[in-house]
Amino acid sequence: MKSHMKIKNLDINGHTFLAPLAGVTNLPFRLLVKDCGCAVVCSEMISAKGIFYNSEKTLDLMASKNEERPLSIQLFGADPDTMAKGAAFVEKLGGADILDINFGCSVKKIIKQGAGVALMKEPELARVLLKSVRAATRLPLTIKIRSGWDHTGSQALNIARIAQESGVDAIIMHPRTAAQGFKGTADWNLIKKLKQQITIPVIGNGDINCVEDAIQMLSHTGCDAIMIGRAAMKNPFILSQIEDYLKTGSYTTPSYHDIFNAMEKLTCMYIDHFGELPACRMLRSRLSWFVKGLPGCSGFRKNLSRINSKTQALEMIRKFENSISQTHQGIIPPDHKADN
Ligand SMILES: Cc1cc2nc3c(=O)[nH]c(=O)nc-3n(C[C@H](O)[C@H](O)[C@H](O)COP(=O)(O)O)c2cc1C
Repeated sequence: MKSHMKIKNLDINGHTFLAPLAGVTNLPFRLLVKDCGCAVVCSEMISAKGIFYNSEKTLDLMASKNEERPLSIQLFGADPDTMAKGAAFVEKLGGADILDINFGCSVKKIIKQGAGVALMKEPELARVLLKSVRAATRLPLTIKIRSGWDHTGSQALNIARIAQESGVDAIIMHPRTAAQGFKGTADWNLIKKLKQQITIPVIGNGDINCVEDAIQMLSHTGCDAIMIGRAAMKNPFILSQIEDYLKTGSYTTPSYHDIFNAMEKLTCMYIDHFGELPACRMLRSRLSWFVKGLPGCSGFRKNLSRINSKTQALEMIRKFENSISQTHQGIIPPDHKADN
């Protein structure tokens, strides 16, 4: 088992981080994942410019609760001064325990602004930006990078070195290139290389789909912790499974009842947070991730596209649970993870 981890002065009680996922890692989802045993949850990426212009939408994305802490808030942007102001705002607002800067987003709209992975091509701008942010906040500071713009990873190693020199406290690496998007595979060898070249903690990310993948990433790369994105969208229990395995050497598979309870809980939290109709619209896709691979999920998913109220959503979840437990006695078949 890995030793205890610290980011600056912050003790991390575990080895799992929930990845920032735009449109997904909102407050209700983070609370659910926290409840599933995740050590550190991350917000979706937040525009520093949006903070500067006092955008209501941006400020809403920063809603947080004490129960989810430690919380990492991720900012994106390319202007050092605006980013520094955003960092100071996040610290003053309270609620965040870590500030993360996005050096990895490869969406065109973000790259066009010079933000996200575009910053990996501009080491001197990155240095100025990180120094400005460092001077503006005492929060533990992390950056989330990709491999860079080619497969060698030399840009990543360079940016990481600059980050360390600029007072950044940990590096998160998703080792795919800018052009890869989410295609191909994450090059875990690059995480290993990074870990060997810097002294601040490294959090490895990319393609962890089950407990065994997580253990493999930790042992292959020597990274200090791991970050999980897409797998947590369909199975938030993966976080507790990994934490359990690291502590005890074993883990359990959630029962159907655990899964349906989580769906109910998420539904109620979404409705409390976003209001009934907007929440129902979002839940149409969110709930469908949880049932991926379950017997009879296609009928459930079809019905989900029509939910408009809390009563309707909760009834539908219960009905699906009943139909499954009558035929499968509450035990998850081993092929639950199968994509269908
Ligand atoms: C829907 C979606 C939204 C994402 N949003 C962000 C984001 O806001 N900030 C960020 O740094 N990465 C974002 N990512 C990348 C993830 O944080 C993560 O690096 C990537 O999915 C690889 O990890 P995984 O294989 O565990 O999913 C996003 C990925 C997805 C699929």
